[in-house]
Amino acid sequence: MAFEKACALGDVPTDEALGVTVGSYDVAIARHEDEVFAIQDLCSHAAVALSEGEVEDCTVECWLHGSRFDLRTGKPTGLPATEPVATFAVEIRGADVYVDTTTTLNGVTPS
Ligand code: FES
Repeated sequence: MAFEKACALGDVPTDEALGVTVGSYDVAIARHEDEVFAIQDLCSHAAVALSEGEVEDCTVECWLHGSRFDLRTGKPTGLPATEPVATFAVEIRGADVYVDTTTTLNGVTPS
């Protein structure tokens, strides 16, 4: 485990994601209720940034074709995307969000 600071907790919006770079990867940080999630900031369908889509019901929507990805599992909840996106472990330390990109929670290899 190698957690790195991703952003301040206060910088994470409630209805959209925050795009950051952690380690070697672009990561979308998003909230659902009191929880914070980190998902690779790359749609599995056509490689656009997920952080530009809206966040709703613990999913982030890809702005290009509309697939939504579950923030907990990285799995798409609808077409056209069919492959999951890597999800990363998050720790809240004080007022900051830390993410570990050295491994994934869902076993998906980040691209
Ligand atoms: S690029 Fe994301 S659903 Fe097509």
